[in-house]
Amino acid sequence: MTGETHWDDVYGSHAEEEVSWFTERPEPSLSLIREFASAPDPVADIGGGASRLADALLAEGYRDITVLDLSARAIAMAQARLGPRAGDVHWIAADVTRWQPPRPYRIWHDRAAFHFLTTATDRAAYVRIMRAALEPGGHAIISTFADDGPERCSGLPVARYAPGALADELERHAPGAFEPVRAQRHEHATPGGAIQRFQVSVFRRRAAGRPAALPGQDEPA
Ligand SMILES: C[S@@+](CC[C@H](N)C(=O)[O-])C[C@H]1O[C@@H](n2cnc3c(N)ncnc32)[C@H](O)[C@@H]1O
Repeated sequence: MTGETHWDDVYGSHAEEEVSWFTERPEPSLSLIREFASAPDPVADIGGGASRLADALLAEGYRDITVLDLSARAIAMAQARLGPRAGDVHWIAADVTRWQPPRPYRIWHDRAAFHFLTTATDRAAYVRIMRAALEPGGHAIISTFADDGPERCSGLPVARYAPGALADELERHAPGAFEPVRAQRHEHATPGGAIQRFQVSVFRRRAAGRPAALPGQDEPA
């Protein structure tokens, strides 16, 4: 089963509020985006699924929102919920590890997508694409299961991170490109009442560092 089929099946067989990652109020994501970007800034929600983050950002006046997800079904759910306001969001059904960002973004937000990348090849592609997509001075906000968080989600294994390990992973695949700004722990209460421990890290895209190279391009020496 491809990743796309897996996620389409998950979203197709559950109501929006039934999936373990559902949250009505997407915090701390929203507060962090508010802190590091203002309303006109381009914000990309990577692996956004059917999340209500886009709704919350629209309500706060953000005008340049992109939601990317592997699952076209998840995107359709979010669009149906938003109704006419869905036209104010850019929607992209794609695998982030193969995406070619069309323009720079001020915020790269990812809640619970990166941790599904369990091979170094996929993580390298992701980090290099993130480097290419973020404008200098922009911020990446990445939430993953913490090192003492769940080992699986949605029937799939995940890679868990302490903030330092996540920073090391970014440095490994994009040397010098990202400066850790802040990290916090977050406890997510699932709709079923379980507690899942997350880490939420913020990284600043440095202006300096090696020039961005997309996967398939030669890495600069
Ligand atoms: C646990 S859900 C989180 C969804 C959303 N971020 C939220 O907080 O509600 C993980 C999401 O990552 C997406 N995803 C997984 N691998 C992906 C990939 N390689 N490229 C793009 N999206 C991916 C899935 O389709 C799913 O919507």
